[in-house]
Amino acid sequence: KTKVAILISGRGSNMKSLIQAAKDSDYPAEIIGVFSNRADAAGLDYAKEHGIQTAVISHKDFDSREAFCDALDAQLEAWGTEFICLAGYMRIHSNAFAEKWLGKMLNIHPSLLPLFKGLKPQQQALDAGVKVSGATVHEVTPELDAGPSVMQGVVPVLEDDDADSLAARILTVEHEIYPKALKYFLEKRRNTDQNLAAQQTLIWPQ
Ligand code: GAR
Repeated sequence: KTKVAILISGRGSNMKSLIQAAKDSDYPAEIIGVFSNRADAAGLDYAKEHGIQTAVISHKDFDSREAFCDALDAQLEAWGTEFICLAGYMRIHSNAFAEKWLGKMLNIHPSLLPLFKGLKPQQQALDAGVKVSGATVHEVTPELDAGPSVMQGVVPVLEDDDADSLAARILTVEHEIYPKALKYFLEKRRNTDQNLAAQQTLIWPQ
């Protein structure tokens, strides 16, 4: 099994869906640690309750993005991390960190990328007037929210939606696609022995 660390900054509901999926003996990933840049991230308690080691390093204790990412990297290496899943992790990586983990790091973003990168993507979708939105699991590259898509899930945008109601609908599809996308990516990567191999978008539900 691939040793996966999950990086969070808050609630951790996507982290939970990955932890639950990884309990299956057939699942190709083992969750070996949960890292947060915020000590008050609610997801940390859930990880501990499930016997998963946790670590907190605050980005506020570092002068630069590079120095913080070096400390994060040292923690991940100490755990023997082979692969990273970002799950509501709200820090931008240094280029060195993103390049080191290229092909070994996925993120989930609550929009149909390449639309609505960055902050408040659900509000961006409402402002744009789109009739569907969703979530994207994608490879992380140095450019924000721009790496190759691995899997997308689609939901309708309803007439009376606000950002919260749309976010909640998107979140349900996030919980479905992230474990599927990680499994798909790890198995495909293993089969082809290539980085950046899974440059294919699947639609969920299929
Ligand atoms: C999720 O909607 C995730 O897609 C989003 O934050 C939320 C975290 O929820 N991530 C981003 O916006 C990344 N830029 P969670 O902590 O319950 O998984």
